[in-house]
Formats: sequence, C-alpha cells, structure tokens
Amino acid sequence: MTNSGKEKLIIFDTTLRDGEQSPGVTLTAHEKVEIARQLSRLGVDVCEAGFPIASQGDFEAVERIAKEVGPLTAGRHSNKPMVICGLARAVPADIQRAYDAVKHAPAHRIHTFLATSDIHLQYKLKINREECVARAVAAVKYAKSLGCKDVEFSPEDAGRSDREFLCQVLGEVIKAGATTLNIPDTVGYNTPEEYGAMIKFLVENVEGAKNVTWSTHCHNDLGLATANTLAGVANGARQVEVTINGIGERAGNTSLEELVMAIYTHPTAYPVFHTIDTYQIYNTSQLVTKKTGMVIQGNKAIVGANAFAHESGIHQDGVLKNKSTYEIIEPGVVGIPSNSLVLGKHSGRNAFRTRLEQLIQNSMYEDVLKSEPAVFEKLFVAFKKLADTKKRGVTDQDLLALLDDQLNMH
Ligand code: KIV
Ligand code: ZN
Repeated sequence: MTNSGKEKLIIFDTTLRDGEQSPGVTLTAHEKVEIARQLSRLGVDVCEAGFPIASQGDFEAVERIAKEVGPLTAGRHSNKPMVICGLARAVPADIQRAYDAVKHAPAHRIHTFLATSDIHLQYKLKINREECVARAVAAVKYAKSLGCKDVEFSPEDAGRSDREFLCQVLGEVIKAGATTLNIPDTVGYNTPEEYGAMIKFLVENVEGAKNVTWSTHCHNDLGLATANTLAGVANGARQVEVTINGIGERAGNTSLEELVMAIYTHPTAYPVFHTIDTYQIYNTSQLVTKKTGMVIQGNKAIVGANAFAHESGIHQDGVLKNKSTYEIIEPGVVGIPSNSLVLGKHSGRNAFRTRLEQLIQNSMYEDVLKSEPAVFEKLFVAFKKLADTKKRGVTDQDLLALLDDQLNMH
C-alpha cells in the first residue's frame, strides 16, 4: 500500500520465456542478457528468463541473467532487485534445473505449472483429477525443499478448467507453500467478463487466498489479452504476466506497453500503482524487435510506427490546434519523440543529436554521450556512412544498432 491507498501491481515480464516461444524466435544467451538488462532499466519486477530444462543454451542464458542482471535494481522508481524466474513443469528434474539456474540471483523464483482442464488431463497428461492434485502439491513442496522461498504455481488452461476443481488444486498448493498463484488463459479463450469473474471467484473462494499474490496470464487468440488482464486486476489480481510488443505463442501474450499505458491513462479506474519507467517503453520495444526479428505492425497500439501519426486533414488540423484532440498520450511519455525527424544522408549534427538524445534518455548511454564529445563524433561519422547506403532513411533500430556497435556496452 502507498499513501494514495493503492496497492503495488507486480509487473512480471515473460518476453524471454513465453515471448521466445513465438514461432520462429530464438535468442542467443548474449541477446537474452541484453534484453534482461533493458527490462531491469524499464523497471519490471519479475523477469521470467527462460525454461532451463528446455536446452543447455537456455539453462546458461538464465544462469547468466541471474548472475549478471539479478543484482541490478528494477528500474529508477524501485530500490529492489529484479526477481529472476525460471519455468519448470511439475516434475523434480525440471524444478531442480530451474533452481540451479536462478539461485545465483539475490531475488529468485521457481514457476511450476500443471494443466487442470479436463481436456488437458484426458488427452495430454492422461491422468485423473486426483493425480493432478497430488502432482501439483508434490511440485510445490519439492521447490520449497530446495530452499526456494518464492514459488509460483500455474494451473495451465485455467481458463477452460472447472472452477470447483481449480479451487481444490489451488487451496492445496497454497498449503504446500506456493506464494503466487497465476491463472493462465492458455488458449486465449476467455472474454473480459469471464476472466474477471474467474479471478473474483478464486480470490473469494480458495482457502488461504488472502496469503498469496494472484496473477493474470492471458493469451491474445481473440485479441482480448489486454482487456482480460485489466479485468483480472479490477477483480483482485496484483501481478500481471506480460511481454514486450505482446509477443508469445500463437497470437501472443498481453502486451506490457498496452497494459501499463491503459493504467496510466485511467489513474482512478484501478486500485493499483506500478514502478515501470514509461520513458523506457519505446527503447525496449525497439530492442526486442531487433533481437527477435519480429516486426511490429504499423498500427500496433503504443509502439507501432503509426501509433502517433496523423494522416487525415481533419485530424492534422485538430492536432495542430491542440494535441489532445486526437492524442490520448504524449508520445514523449513512452519515449517516442513528439515530432518525427526523418534521418538521412542530408541530416546534420543537430537533427542526429536530437534524435539520439530522445532515444537514449534515462538509459546508460545518456551519461556517456554527455561526458564524452569524441563518442558523439564517432557515432556521427558512422551514421553518415550508414545513411549513404540506406534508401529509406536511417531508422531508430539502425541508431540503436550503431550505439551497440560503437559503444560496445554489452
Ligand atoms: O499459457 C500458459 O499456460 C503458460 C504457462 C506455462 C504459465 O505459459
Ligand atoms: Zn502462456
């Protein structure tokens, strides 16, 4: 609780786990560390860094993130380290592997999951409900027995699970020591009314519900992930699982930037506050696009190329008279410059410096650029060279790549 009477909303980012499960996306350990660093600058509270049993590469990536990024503070609005989390199926080998990878971080979490819907029990796991409860409880107890205090449990496909059965499983895992209960709409089937009602029902009916944090995890198969997540928050969830640019399995997960800016634009609608540094949103989105190769559609909310562009004469006229006529967010608040400068081979130092400064505000590059004029000159030369080869101008992604190459701060 804060003075304003609002409760903290924990932002759990799963770009490096569910996001990496996007078809066609594979990140190297180095790329995952780089994204994790940016997530800590952005201020996410929990970073689900991967699924350590999935491959040796993923184990090493999660371990490096735990060691190198784990000690960093979660953004400039928080004084706590980012929690590093690893995913595990509800079996000892997975849980042990996840623990071995995350344990190096000052704050670490094991996230274990088991399906609870009849469809999954019958066709995938081929077990009955009794066995399901037994496995879920054993998994949480095993994670606790390793010395991990922070244990999250997810009943996979909760969105299509029987509510009374969910209550039973969740009550038992709370008794076993789970500290966060995450409620996945794994296949993106729920509507906001259904999802919100499910969270309310669980918070009111599961034994011991008040002693744990309730979490949302929504997929976007019907384009409802952000709406469902907000419905969850309105009904008692205090953690949201999200990804940058909404990437993830099939149609993706709830997008961090949409969720955060929906709360920002409706400050009295939800009884929560968060510690995300909104000025870092655009940088982070660009970095994830660059590293995953998943291009965002132009009309993507908040971070798409057209999100703050006005085309029609009526809109342009309105915006020129007063921006609030057609803009609900100041682009600068999410780190996008209010006037877009097209950078090309004819651009001078001034335009280049202005765009660069907008792009890196509040990031670690800002100080370097201010204190070392030679670095700016080096970047300008590299920019001019690049601009000569680019037909459609130098993009923000190009500039970020230039910064990475020239400053070599990995
Ligand atoms: O969508 C899902 O059910 C998941 C779980 C592993 C939490 O990603
Ligand atoms: Zn998921």
